[in-house]
Amino acid sequence: MTADIGLVGAGVMGSALALNLADNGYKVAVYGKSPHKVQTCAAAAKEQNLKGEIIPCATSAEMVAHVRAPRPFLLLVPAGDAVDSVIAELRPLIDKGDLIIDAGNGNFHNTRERTKMLEADGYAFLGLGVSGGSEGARHGPAIMAGGSPALWSRVEEPLKAISAKHNGEACCEWFGPDGAGHFVKTIHNGIEYADMQMIAEAYGVMRDGLGMQADEIGAVFQRWNEGPLGSFLIEITGQTAQIADPETGKPLLDVIQDKAGQKGTGRWSVIEAQHLAAPASTIEAAVVARNISSRKDAREEMEALFGAAPTELGDALGDRNTTLNALEQALIAGKIACYAQGFETFKAASATYEWGLDYAAIARVWRAGCIIRSVFLDDIARVLGEDSDAHLMATPFFADLMRDNQGGLRNTVAACATHGLPAPALSAALSYFDMYRTDRGTANMVQIQRDFFGHHGFERVDKDGGGYHGPWVV
Ligand code: 6PG
Repeated sequence: MTADIGLVGAGVMGSALALNLADNGYKVAVYGKSPHKVQTCAAAAKEQNLKGEIIPCATSAEMVAHVRAPRPFLLLVPAGDAVDSVIAELRPLIDKGDLIIDAGNGNFHNTRERTKMLEADGYAFLGLGVSGGSEGARHGPAIMAGGSPALWSRVEEPLKAISAKHNGEACCEWFGPDGAGHFVKTIHNGIEYADMQMIAEAYGVMRDGLGMQADEIGAVFQRWNEGPLGSFLIEITGQTAQIADPETGKPLLDVIQDKAGQKGTGRWSVIEAQHLAAPASTIEAAVVARNISSRKDAREEMEALFGAAPTELGDALGDRNTTLNALEQALIAGKIACYAQGFETFKAASATYEWGLDYAAIARVWRAGCIIRSVFLDDIARVLGEDSDAHLMATPFFADLMRDNQGGLRNTVAACATHGLPAPALSAALSYFDMYRTDRGTANMVQIQRDFFGHHGFERVDKDGGGYHGPWVV
C-alpha cells in the first residue's frame, strides 16, 4: 500500500494525467479497461525516467489494494454511465472516507446527485473540471474543483502540483460545493464553442468574402495572435490553417468536411443558462451553428433550392486591410460579449445553487492550461477582482474596448447580412450589446400583448409598482 493515488481510465486523458502525477513525484496505481493501455502508460513513465512511479494494475481490486488510506481515486472515464459503473465497481472494494474524484466532463447535475448519494453512504466525492486536452493533462491543465472544502484540502496539493501555472500561480482552484467545479468547466466549454465559432465566422469572411487562401488566412490569425486577441485558439488557428494535407498537398483545412462534432458540454451550458434565465445568446448561436453544420444533406438541398449567397464582399467594408481591421474588431467585441454572457450565467448559478463563486478566481484559473486561455483573461481577472459584481461589458476597461471595437463588429455583421455570409455568433454578440445599451427597449409591446390576451399586468413609466391593466373588456 504505497501508492498516493489510484487512477481509473488509461485512455488519452487518463494516461496523460497519470504521467503528469508521476512527473511530479507521485506514485499512481493505474487501472483501465484496456490492459495494454495501462501497461503502455506504466512503460512510458519508466522510459521518461519520471520522479514518481506508475503501478499498472490488472483489476480495480489490485488498484485499490495499492493505494494508501484514506484513498483518493481519480476517474478519467467518459462522462455519464461509465462514471456510475466505475463507482459501482469501486464501492464494494473501498472504505468509508475514501474519495472518488470524477475528473471527466461531468454534467454538474449528475455530480450533485453522486455527491449526495456517496456522502449518504459515508463515501466522499468531488467533481473536477479539467481543461487543456491531452497536452494540458500531461504538462499542466487548468483544474476547476467542486465539492466539500474538507475533501478538497486532501487533494489540493497534488492537483495544484500538476496544474498549469500562470506567473507561478497554480491554475487550479476549488469553486464551491457539489457541482460547482463541473459547472465552471461546462461554461468554460460553452465559451470555448463561442470562441471557436466566432473564429470560424471570421475565417468564412476571409475565405468567401475576400477570396483568401488558407495560408493567407493563417497568417492573418498569426498576426492577430500578437494583439488583444492573443490566445491558444487564435494561435492554433493560425498554425493549422497553414498546414498541408500530406496526402494531397492541398491545405488540410480545405480537405476537411464542414461538419462539426460535439460531445454535449456546449449544449449543456446553453440549457443551464436558459434554466437560470441568463442571456447566453452568443454561446447558443455557436451550438446551433454546430447543429446546422452537421446537417450537410439539408444544406446541399437548400443551396440548390435557393442558390448560393453572393458572398464576395468586394469593397463593402473598404479594401482588404480595412476589412481585416473591422474583422479583428468584430472578434474583440464579440469576445467581450461572449465572456460577459458566461459570467452572467455564473452569477445566476451562484445565487441559485448558493455556491459563492469567486468570478475573478475563475478568470485567474483560465489564464493558463485550458483551451480558452488568452491575454484577455488577465484583464477579466483584474477587473472582476476590483468589482466582482460588475457586468463585464460595463467595467471601465471593457467598456472602453467595446466602444473602440463595436463599430467593426457592427460593420462586419451588416456586411455579412447583405452578402449572405452566415455570422450567427457575431450577430448574437452585436444584438446582446445593442439590447443592453438601449434604455428604452420594445418589451412594452410584448407586455401590452400579454396583458390583452392573458391579463398578466404591466408596469407603467409614470407610476410606481406593477399590476396595471389596459382598458380591455374581460
Ligand atoms: C478542454 C476541452 C475538452 C474537449 C471537450 C469539448 O477544456 O480540454 O473542452 O474538454 O474539447 O470535450 O468537446 P466537444 O467539442 O466534442 O464538445
